[in-house]
Amino acid sequence: MNIMVVGGGGREHAIIKSLKKNPKAEKIYALPGNGGIAADAECVPIKATDIEGIIEFVKNSEIDYAVVAPDDPLVMGLVDRLEALGVPCFGPRKDAAIIEGSKVFAKNLMKKYGIPTAKYEVFTDAASAYAYVEECPLPTVIKADGLALGKGVLIAGTREEARAAVREIMEDKAFGKSGDQVVIEEFLEGPEVSVLSFTDGKTIVPMISSMDHKRAGDHDTGLNTGGMGTIAPNPCYTSEVASRCMNEIFLPTIQAMNHENRRFKGCLYFGLMITKDGPKVIEYNCRFGDPETQVVLPLLESDLLTVMQAVTEERLKDCRVKFSRDAACCVIMASAGYPVKYEKGFEITIPEDLGDKVFVAGAKRSEDKLLSDGGRVLGVTEIAGTLSEAVEKAYADVKRIHFENAYFRKDIGQRALMEG
Ligand code: AMP
Ligand code: GLY
Repeated sequence: MNIMVVGGGGREHAIIKSLKKNPKAEKIYALPGNGGIAADAECVPIKATDIEGIIEFVKNSEIDYAVVAPDDPLVMGLVDRLEALGVPCFGPRKDAAIIEGSKVFAKNLMKKYGIPTAKYEVFTDAASAYAYVEECPLPTVIKADGLALGKGVLIAGTREEARAAVREIMEDKAFGKSGDQVVIEEFLEGPEVSVLSFTDGKTIVPMISSMDHKRAGDHDTGLNTGGMGTIAPNPCYTSEVASRCMNEIFLPTIQAMNHENRRFKGCLYFGLMITKDGPKVIEYNCRFGDPETQVVLPLLESDLLTVMQAVTEERLKDCRVKFSRDAACCVIMASAGYPVKYEKGFEITIPEDLGDKVFVAGAKRSEDKLLSDGGRVLGVTEIAGTLSEAVEKAYADVKRIHFENAYFRKDIGQRALMEG
């Protein structure tokens, strides 16, 4: 089988490493992939958002199966285009990917179907948003409607900050058209849990839970990033919480999407907050999380390709999806200065025995060298019987991986160890 994986970060590297375990996956193309992924797949230099370029490539290659991993091409409708060419895909169509593509859509869906989430108001003009933030309870949360590279959420503790957030999103258009509408919502408190799930629109199978560490600095200080590390399972996701989530959130969400004639097939990601009133949805993503995938897939004992094909063919009900009872920890090594300003182009050295544990995010190949080429450079994942062992092993690996200017958080897993 020839498989095409669209995307080029650590998440895609983890997906490719898992797909490769199935001998049916004879050839894997990564579009565009990266210098590290090149060790596991054939990288084709076509950007994930270059829909026409991808379609041309598919017309000239024999692709038997496609996995579309990032949000942009999903929201742009790449799956619809590939299906029109007869290529079976893993990933939602455009009409279902809107669950991540528009926060206004997601919030209205939850309100209509009684799915627990923060109370909110939607604004389409800056004047009404400014008026609202003069009187709403503080802190308040201001979100750009559309995709914003994970940066479109601003938490305001004062009226001044709230006004500045409205200005940034709606007037300065910091996130372009994504800021044409804003959601202003209630500030919720409680531990956060990420739950990725497989769903074919009929059956939903949650994967093992995880915890992201989004802020750049230790102890959750500093700017928001794409994610500086993850652990799985998340100790806040008890069996009681899991069963509430299934009944109050997961099943109602897929039923709601079916009811709206927007059947969701692929990986539906639930960003949850466990509040004192129970679990609530912070966000939906229409894709695997990054770096959640780097701890979730290494714990998947079932074959990923088999599960993905069952989703595509709508027979997930008959497919066994089994996770290990071990724990995993992924520590991201970034370029110092990320997420603001950083230097790149430094040689990366990774001991050979760590090959299967390292998921490369931002690196390019130059002759036989691997050079840093992004903010998040790579992640290293370790698995062990207990979380504390997994954390210890991951940090021992980090010490053995070198590139100039490397920065990583020192406390990945500490919060989970305190909860656990
Ligand atoms: P999102 O991109 O929607 O996941 O938001 C990014 C982060 O902002 C989340 O992981 C939360 O930490 C925080 N956040 C988003 N919405 C809320 C909310 N209503 N209350 C408190 N924190 C929030
Ligand atoms: N790690 C958060 C995300 O993938 O959106």
